[in-house]
Amino acid sequence: PLEKRVEDLLQRMTLEEKILQTNQWTYGKNANENNIESIQKGVRPEIGSLIYRSISPVYRNQIMRKAMEDSRLGIPILMGFDVIHGYRTIYPIPLAQACSWNQELVKKAAAVAAKESRLSGVDWTFSPMVDVARDPRWGRVAEGYGEDPYANSVFCVATVNGYQGKNLSDPFSIAACLKHYIGYSLSEGGRDYHSSDVSAQTLWETFMPPFHAGVKAGAATLMSAFNDISGVPASANHYTLTEVLKERWKHDGFVVSDWGSIENLIPQGVAKDRKEATLKSFLAGVEMDMVDNVYVENLAQLVKEKKIPESKIDDAVRRILRLKFRLGLFDNPYVQELSEKDRYYQPESMAVAQQLAEESMVLLKNSNQILPLSSDVKQIALIGPMVKDQINMMGSWEGQGIESSVETIFEGFTKEFSSKAVINYAKGCEFDGTDEKGFAEAVAMAQKSDVVVLCMGEMKKWSGENTSRSSIGLPMIQHKLLAELKKTGKKIILVLSNGRPLELGDLESLSDAIIEIWQPGIAGGTPLAGIVSGRLNPSGKLAITFPLATGQIPIYYSMRQPARPKIGGYKDISNEPKYWFGHGLSYANFSYGTVKISSDKIDKKSNLIAEVEVTNTSNRSGKETVFWYISDPVASISRPMKELKFFEKLELKAGEKKVFKFEINPERDLSFPDTNGKMHLETGDFYLTINDQRVKFELIE
Ligand code: IFM
Repeated sequence: PLEKRVEDLLQRMTLEEKILQTNQWTYGKNANENNIESIQKGVRPEIGSLIYRSISPVYRNQIMRKAMEDSRLGIPILMGFDVIHGYRTIYPIPLAQACSWNQELVKKAAAVAAKESRLSGVDWTFSPMVDVARDPRWGRVAEGYGEDPYANSVFCVATVNGYQGKNLSDPFSIAACLKHYIGYSLSEGGRDYHSSDVSAQTLWETFMPPFHAGVKAGAATLMSAFNDISGVPASANHYTLTEVLKERWKHDGFVVSDWGSIENLIPQGVAKDRKEATLKSFLAGVEMDMVDNVYVENLAQLVKEKKIPESKIDDAVRRILRLKFRLGLFDNPYVQELSEKDRYYQPESMAVAQQLAEESMVLLKNSNQILPLSSDVKQIALIGPMVKDQINMMGSWEGQGIESSVETIFEGFTKEFSSKAVINYAKGCEFDGTDEKGFAEAVAMAQKSDVVVLCMGEMKKWSGENTSRSSIGLPMIQHKLLAELKKTGKKIILVLSNGRPLELGDLESLSDAIIEIWQPGIAGGTPLAGIVSGRLNPSGKLAITFPLATGQIPIYYSMRQPARPKIGGYKDISNEPKYWFGHGLSYANFSYGTVKISSDKIDKKSNLIAEVEVTNTSNRSGKETVFWYISDPVASISRPMKELKFFEKLELKAGEKKVFKFEINPERDLSFPDTNGKMHLETGDFYLTINDQRVKFELIE
C-alpha cells in the first residue's frame, strides 16, 4: 500500500512540483514561531526538505501547515538537522563513543537524540558519519568511529537502529543519513575538502563496509561527499551512487548532496557551470540538492533538452516521497507541542549521557598505580583551562546543546570530593597564546596540594568540519604549564579533552597518569571525578591510534604487511605509535587463559568456535573488552597485518571468570574484496589474535 500511495501521488504531480521535491532549503539560525512570516519569504511550501534549525514544535507545525494546506497536493516537508551526538542532551562525540565499545549504550544514546529531535520538529538527522578515519590532522575524525572498518560498521548499525527505532513511523524515530559517501576522510594531508586518492582496493576493503552495513540495517538516506575517487567527485560518481548503492545494494531511499557538493563540481573541474553540475550529479544518482538550489534552477530545462529523462526525475521523487510516507508524515505531519521541560534532559537521557561519558574515557597511563587517588590525598590542585570550561567540553556539532547545561570538571570534583579532599583551583593559562601570568598561581596551588590534576586539551573549534591541523600537538603554552607544575615535584594526573588523537610529546613523559576524556558532552564532570576517586573503574579503549609524532600519519593497526618489516621505517623516531588502537587501562587486572579453538582445520562451509576464559584477578569489579583479530599471512593480494572481526565488552566482578566466545564464519570473517567488491575466500593458514596470543588454523575447501 505504501508504494501504491507513492505512485498515486507521483502521477498527480507536475514536473515543477516534482523538481521542488528534490530541493532542500534552509532558514536562518534563530528561526522561531515569532518570525515565521519573515523567514518564509521566498520559500515555496512545495519544497522537499528544509534544514530545520528551530527547537520549537509550534514553529515546525506552522511551517508544516503551510505545506499541507497552502500547496496544491499537501506534501509534507522533511525537516533535517545535524544531530550528531545528541540534540539538546549532548553526549560524547562519536569518536569517544566508539572508545566505549558498548554498542547497546551507543544505540540508546541515538534513541534519546531521536526522541528529543522528533519532539522538537526534526524528522531526519545527517548522521552517522562512518568515514573510516586514519588521518587525525583531518578535523572530522571527531565525528566518526575511528580507524577501523568493523568498528565503524558496528557503531553505524547501533546508531541507525537507535535513530530509526523499530519503525520509522514511530513517534520518536527519525531517519538516519550515512555520510559522507565515500572516501572523504582520505583528503590529502588531512586538508578538508581536498582531493583524495582512494584506490579501488581501499575503497572496498576500508570504506565500503560501514556504509554497506548501514544500508543493510535500513538507513533511510546517504549524503554524497566532496572528495573525488580517481578524479570523479563522489557527488557525481555513477559507480558508487548508482551501480553500487542502488543497483547492487538495492537501497531504495535517497541520496542528498553535502552542502555545496554539487556546485563545487565547478571548482573541482568537472563541470563548466551550474547546469552541467546539475546534470552530472543528478544522473550519477544524487536525488536531493542540499541548499545549492541548482536542481530547481536547471532540472526542468535539462528535461526539456532531453538530457535527463522525466522517468529519472520520477525515480528521484519516488525515493523522497517513500521516506515521507515511511516516516508517517502524510498521516501525522504535526508534532506534539510539549514544553522544553518535558522534552529535554529526562532522567533516563541524562543517565545514558553520563554512562556513555564514563565508558568512553580512556585511562592511557597509570604509573605506579597513582590512580585511583589514595585516601591520604587531602588537597587536590585542580588546574588548567578545561577545569571550568563548558563550551569546549561539548565538542563540535553540538546540535541544540546549551553551554550552561554542561557539568564542568570543577563541579564534578567538588561533588565527588566534598567530604574527602579540598579542591585548590587555578586556571594556569588559556588554551592558546603566550600569556604565562597564571602560572604562578597554578604553581602555588600545586605546592600546597598532595597531587595535581591538570585539565587541558583542544578547543571545540579545533576539530569538526573544516578544522584541519598540520600538527596534532597541543599549543606550547599548555606544555609549558605542565613543565612548571612538574618542577613542584608533585604527581601529575593529566586529563585531556580533545576531538582527535594528540601528539603528546613531553606531556606524556612528564605525567604520572593520563585520562583521555575526549569531548564528553554535558555530563562528563561526574564520571571523570568518579574515575579519579576510584568510585568508577575506567573501561574505555582507543578506537584510534595515537601517533608518536604527526610525521607518522597515517599509522593504524591494520596497515598492510610491509616489505623488509624489520629494517624499514623511520631513522629518526620509532616506528611504534604512542598508543595503539585498543589501548586502555583498568583498575582491575584481567588475566587471559589459553585461547581454545574447536578445530585447527575448517572447511568453507563450517564455523570455528574460539573461546578464551578471562579472570578478574583483582579485588574490584571492572569491564573488559576482548578484541578478536584475524590475519591472513599469505593470499593472492597483500592483506592487512590483522583485522578486527569481533569484540565483546563484559563486566567481571572481583575474582570472577567469564568465557568470551567468537564464532568465526569463513564467508564473513576470512574473505576479502577485490577492486570491484567481489568477495574472495582463499584456503590456507590464518591466525587468530587475542591480546598477545596467536592461534593458527587452516581453511580448506
Ligand atoms: O551534514 C553536514 C555535513 O556533514 C557537512 N556539511 C554540511 C552538512 C549539513 O549541515
